[in-house]
Amino acid sequence: MKMEVQSLPAGIANLAQHEQRARETLDPAAWAYLCGAAGRGITERANRAAWESVTLVPRVLASLEGLDTRTQLLGRAMASPLIAAPVAFQQLAHRDAEVGTALAAAAQEAGMVLSQQASTPLEAVADAVAADSRRGPLWLQMYWQADRSAVAALADRARASGYEALVLTVDSTVRSGFHLPAGLVAPNMPAAPAAQDLRSLCAAAPTWHELEWLCANAPLPVIVKGILHPDDARHARACGAAAIVVSNHGGRTLDGAAATATMLPRVAEALDGAVPLLVDGGIRSGTDVLKALALGARAVMIGRPIVWGLTNAGARGVAHVLRLLRDELEIAMAQCGCANLARVHGDLIAPIDASAQSLRNERTT
Ligand code: LAC
Repeated sequence: MKMEVQSLPAGIANLAQHEQRARETLDPAAWAYLCGAAGRGITERANRAAWESVTLVPRVLASLEGLDTRTQLLGRAMASPLIAAPVAFQQLAHRDAEVGTALAAAAQEAGMVLSQQASTPLEAVADAVAADSRRGPLWLQMYWQADRSAVAALADRARASGYEALVLTVDSTVRSGFHLPAGLVAPNMPAAPAAQDLRSLCAAAPTWHELEWLCANAPLPVIVKGILHPDDARHARACGAAAIVVSNHGGRTLDGAAATATMLPRVAEALDGAVPLLVDGGIRSGTDVLKALALGARAVMIGRPIVWGLTNAGARGVAHVLRLLRDELEIAMAQCGCANLARVHGDLIAPIDASAQSLRNERTT
């Protein structure tokens, strides 16, 4: 595939400008599919608001020598704890599509999760970056399929082409309200599922047994994405999950689901470091990333902002978005007195002020 490096449109210097520009240029149906939320958008807004309501308590006079955002995840080094989230049909945003996102993530030494519903064959995406020794993790996201052999076949393809883990999304048994623009192909999907009603979707939905089977039989570590409850995190760990992603699918499944920033510390407490914890949903700045790490995440996934960057300048735009977030994280770390990510702890987070909280409750009752 021939890819021309596109320059960034003038006047884009931050994520908000990326968002505005992408919203203006993307076809409205593609915008609705790629960046939309379920229902009334309650959870999508709650995700962002929850990061905003967490506040930081900077530490002063700490040595900042050798300031460094590097980390590592499941055995792979990364320049920063950023991972491009699995986003379906990136061809809708830009012709560079998933290969563009993968090249940008590799260039930024960030991670990449390819969606099972990608517009590009998973082998082509892996071919573009797998040999790059400095790239971050490369994982394949998948949904459970009614036919186990289809799951196994996809897992084998992923392993053969260089993916290092499978990310099983568990929060999307039932979805409604998303309409795909016509004419899209999904080369990694097993046979296209027939239109299914609620009852047959539920009958085919995976349970803990299927997770246990996948963890025991997959040729790659299995990461479970879409957990909010601490007991579910414990259960997934017991089934053999190699990592957990606290996620509500960016507010695209259950509208009214809790914000990820709210549940992250509880899940972190439940897992107590047994496996790496990741989080996504509404992360829009380097300070949001720092808050996520202080609340117990090892890394974060970035979804919609990747789509904005891709829309605005293909691979170049995705690289810009990842670079902005990394640079913002670095500045936030310096401002908080953390020279490296090992110094980021829960005590960076301001306690919720009990008196302010009870005042607020009094006013609303
Ligand atoms: C979505 C599915 C494909 O959010 O993950 O659109």
